[in-house]
Amino acid sequence: MMPAEAVRYDGSCRVAIPPEAGRLLLGHIAELQEPLFPEEAEHIRRAVDKRRREFCAGRTLARQALCRLGLTQPGALPVREDRVPEWPAGFLGSIAHTDRFCACAVARRAAIRSVGIDLETCGQVKPELWDQLFCAAEKEKLLAVEDKQLFLATLMFCAKEAFYKLQYTLTSAWLGFTDVTVVVDGQDRLMVTPAEGTPAAKAVPFMRGSYSQPFPDTVMCQCWLV
Ligand SMILES: CC(C)(COP(=O)(O)OP(=O)(O)OC[C@H]1O[C@@H](n2cnc3c(N)ncnc32)[C@H](O)[C@@H]1OP(=O)(O)O)[C@@H](O)C(=O)NCCC(=O)NCCS
Repeated sequence: MMPAEAVRYDGSCRVAIPPEAGRLLLGHIAELQEPLFPEEAEHIRRAVDKRRREFCAGRTLARQALCRLGLTQPGALPVREDRVPEWPAGFLGSIAHTDRFCACAVARRAAIRSVGIDLETCGQVKPELWDQLFCAAEKEKLLAVEDKQLFLATLMFCAKEAFYKLQYTLTSAWLGFTDVTVVVDGQDRLMVTPAEGTPAAKAVPFMRGSYSQPFPDTVMCQCWLV
């Protein structure tokens, strides 16, 4: 098992998730390198070292989160054909990584319908990407802020990725970046609204979530659907 101090964050969002229903763990990839199960190792046998390490950190953290939810000795978490982890019966979850950090949220299906989390390094969502990623209202907001434009762009992108993962658990459907609109407040709250007519909108007409900056250069978004 990892030393406990490797896990830097075991938080909850504003809509408090009872600790027996869901857990969110965050750690340094370098400190989350427990051995993989054979089927997991096989999946990344040919991957580059960086990918191997982030994958391993995700599985390590997921098993720690499952343990905290009361699962004794969680086994392998194989990769489905659509790249989603196969969670143990009765559980669901979401994994995210940056170059240095990894986060994992795991929940009991009986209590939580879906969860989506994402982590992003600030400053990487550059203006040349905005047309592909953001709809008109979002671009207007970005252009209206005088400073922290790159931070806001990262945050909105991160919220979209977190929502994508949440909705995929329910719909198994693709969703484009401009098919959702993100609104954030100046505190820690976000709202994502999928466009009418998308499978996501049928499943989740709107989603509230929260964001934080667990490290100075890193944004994390989380959405839990109860
Ligand atoms: C799947 C996707 C969201 C992953 O995001 P990413 O920034 O590349 O990578 P992250 O580190 O954040 O997350 C990767 C993890 O997501 C999980 N994942 C992969 N596909 C997923 C899916 N369809 N749904 C939910 N989770 C998924 C996996 O656990 C993966 O980690 P692992 O392979 O180590 O197990 C992204 O690659 C993608 O395909 N996005 C589709 C378009 C989109 O995001 N639209 C947003 C509009 S709402």
